Amino acid sequence: MYPQYYLGIELVDKEHSVLFDLLEDLTRLTYTTPTRDQCFEKVSVLFEYVMTHLAHEERLLEDQGWPGLTQHKLLHAALSRNLDALFEELMTMTDLNCLLFVEKMHAFVLGWLGNHIQEEDAGYAEFLKERLALV
Ligand SMILES: [Fe+2]
Ligand SMILES: [Fe+2]
Repeated sequence: MYPQYYLGIELVDKEHSVLFDLLEDLTRLTYTTPTRDQCFEKVSVLFEYVMTHLAHEERLLEDQGWPGLTQHKLLHAALSRNLDALFEELMTMTDLNCLLFVEKMHAFVLGWLGNHIQEEDAGYAEFLKERLALV
């Protein structure tokens, strides 16, 4: 994970880093000629981890009383709906066109994640570090 994405909160940084690793994994598919099911499998792993991370982050923010939680949850929910839609679209792909679709998906998730960490997650970082006595 690039240095600009580190927030200084170990649990969060670790999970964000796994997300970037899983995205990297997805790009490895492009070196092969995967079937739709292979695309589906890789994408499922990424999406499941996204959902796990969002839930962990929300629980952490709730436990620590972050006042921006409701707004933050809405952003997570919007991503979750987008991923559901992409997943459904992937189901309609064939072995021949799934890779192009995975590339589109990859670009979307990478863009979302980078932006969300720097614009939104960064907003709770100082608060959380103080609450967790990390500063
Ligand atoms: Fe996050
Ligand atoms: Fe977040």
